[in-house]
Amino acid sequence: MPEFTLRLRRYDPDAGEAPYWDEHTIELESHQSVLEGILQARARFDGSIGIRCSCRAAICGSCGVRINGQPALACHTHLDQAMTGARDGVIEVEPMGNMPVIKDLIVDMDAVHWAKIRRVTPWLINKEPIPEREYIVPHEAMVDVTQSMACIQCGACVSDCLSMEVDPLFIGPAALAKAYRFVGDPRDAQHFSRLKDLAEDPHGIYDCTHCFKCIEACPKGVAPMSQIMRLRRVAGRDHQIDDGNNGGRHERSFTNLVRDYGILWEAEVLPRSYGGDSRLAKLSPRAGGELLESLPVIAKALLRGKVTPKGVLKPHRLPKDDLKQIKRIYETIEGREAGERFELNLYISGYDEEQEGAGGATPDAASDAAQGGDGGQQGAEAGQPGQSPEGSPSR
Ligand code: SF4
Ligand code: SF4
Ligand code: FES
Repeated sequence: MPEFTLRLRRYDPDAGEAPYWDEHTIELESHQSVLEGILQARARFDGSIGIRCSCRAAICGSCGVRINGQPALACHTHLDQAMTGARDGVIEVEPMGNMPVIKDLIVDMDAVHWAKIRRVTPWLINKEPIPEREYIVPHEAMVDVTQSMACIQCGACVSDCLSMEVDPLFIGPAALAKAYRFVGDPRDAQHFSRLKDLAEDPHGIYDCTHCFKCIEACPKGVAPMSQIMRLRRVAGRDHQIDDGNNGGRHERSFTNLVRDYGILWEAEVLPRSYGGDSRLAKLSPRAGGELLESLPVIAKALLRGKVTPKGVLKPHRLPKDDLKQIKRIYETIEGREAGERFELNLYISGYDEEQEGAGGATPDAASDAAQGGDGGQQGAEAGQPGQSPEGSPSR
């Protein structure tokens, strides 16, 4: 039987001692999981090792940890797989980040993760009048929210979220993915107020910095960052929500500057984010105030040659034909009605016959998931990046 050495991060806040590393050598087949290794170490060497687990099948979300510095489910990581990331031949296991440690590998999910989930009203507020029988929901609409429904609440994305590291009040990837589950559901009656709330919150949808960490971390392919981008699209484009954080205007300033000049004209981003989408934006009192505050930074950048006076005053210009091509892309995308937009999704919409051999979840699996069935979980697992029809249009 092969041997593996586990290096476990130990910490008991009640003991008043600093955290430390603890090593144990276990004997297991290499296809067995890191969780089984930890449980063996606990059974054979030290009954006080703290680890939370339940299903041992990547379903319950209890065993989230960091393995060799990366967030993972301990029950879903084979020992040989963990060895490939081990720095000195030892598998390091630590508690997840961004959450306080209760003991050893157990973090306080209630204080952070679940508090944030509760923040987004994680239930459906149904439309009235209530139909005599069931609500009829278009298949495409359910497919659209299936990806966010695949979440098992493990907290791996929260653990690695860079925004949350800087701003612990950020609502965060898991909760915002949960929010899209209801914003994308046609049966929910509160789309506008949910979005307005999340857009106006300074720790809401515009607090995400697009770092992709949550997408890499998620063991279920939920792609929380993509769900946040969907929330932004629906808030800005479909509901025209102009938030007090300038998030919507900031995004529009990027896309409109690229549309108009072909390349981002950076000097215009700040004034337009505060003053609106025009060259006169810098004259607006809000933009003027921000520009004044930023003068020391701008002066430093000018002195260091990072920006030039010409670059500030004049945009880059692409050749006319190239610019035309860029405008054509915008016309195609912006000309679409909201219902015609193609969202990237793990799930593809269609019929069983078309799905055969495609490797995607069937409509049945998607609708099963829509009702909280297991088909969705398995579909999501089959659809993890690299093995899936990720990127297939959902509608
Ligand atoms: S993409 Fe956004 S939500 Fe996801 S980890 Fe980065 S900052 Fe957090
Ligand atoms: S989105 Fe993914 S990583 Fe985040 S809690 Fe859900 S399953 Fe875990
Ligand atoms: S024990 Fe349930 S997900 Fe690992």
